[in-house]
Amino acid sequence: MANWDKRYAGAEARLFGDGPNEYVREVMARSDVAPASALLIGDGDGRNGTWLAARGLDVTAVDISRVATAQALAHDAAAGVTVERITADAAEWTPTPGRTWDAAFMIYLQCEADVRHRAVRMATQALAPGGWFVAEGFAPDPDGTGELGPGDADLLYDRDAILAQLAGMRTVESLAGTVFLNEGVKHTGNGCVLRLLARKTG
Ligand SMILES: C[S@@+](CC[C@H](N)C(=O)[O-])C[C@H]1O[C@@H](n2cnc3c(N)ncnc32)[C@H](O)[C@@H]1O
Repeated sequence: MANWDKRYAGAEARLFGDGPNEYVREVMARSDVAPASALLIGDGDGRNGTWLAARGLDVTAVDISRVATAQALAHDAAAGVTVERITADAAEWTPTPGRTWDAAFMIYLQCEADVRHRAVRMATQALAPGGWFVAEGFAPDPDGTGELGPGDADLLYDRDAILAQLAGMRTVESLAGTVFLNEGVKHTGNGCVLRLLARKTG
């Protein structure tokens, strides 16, 4: 597992930018998406969780890095919002039985495929009926058009493998291709990504 504590502690600027991820912003701008609560898996230093909380959502965020979580809490405080932040490994963390959220976000959770796929199953099971699952991450790049992302294929969001984890969900859109990212020192340039929006049918 990558040493995320070291990466966040050594960062001179926010690794993935000050603002929210563009796809999170896009999804939240849809007229049919109006969650009151959100669960974020791998929220890092909080750029998405803080932003969602500032829009009035009750946000719970889980990340394996204690350093990132401490930074995220500081950003929450500076923004005047409160986020329930939990330092935990997505390989093991499970919410309290019966607890649900209206939306779950898995934005650049960078970990091994088996952990990522467990996180998809866990997060979608924790959705209320009609709840939204939103994901973005670096994807396999067959044409080699991307400049960003981890070299290890196990860390990439494979569309078919992720879709296979979605039980009781309707895929609203799934887009795999190269986009220009402008999100901090680590996410600036062309990146081949998967963007996925799915809705719980039950
Ligand atoms: C590329 S960063 C993205 C952070 C944030 N989602 C964002 O977009 O700014 C990947 C994040 O995944 C977290 N992470 C990696 N493996 C994890 C795991 N097994 N459980 C929970 N979080 C994990 C890291 O600590 C890091 O914050």
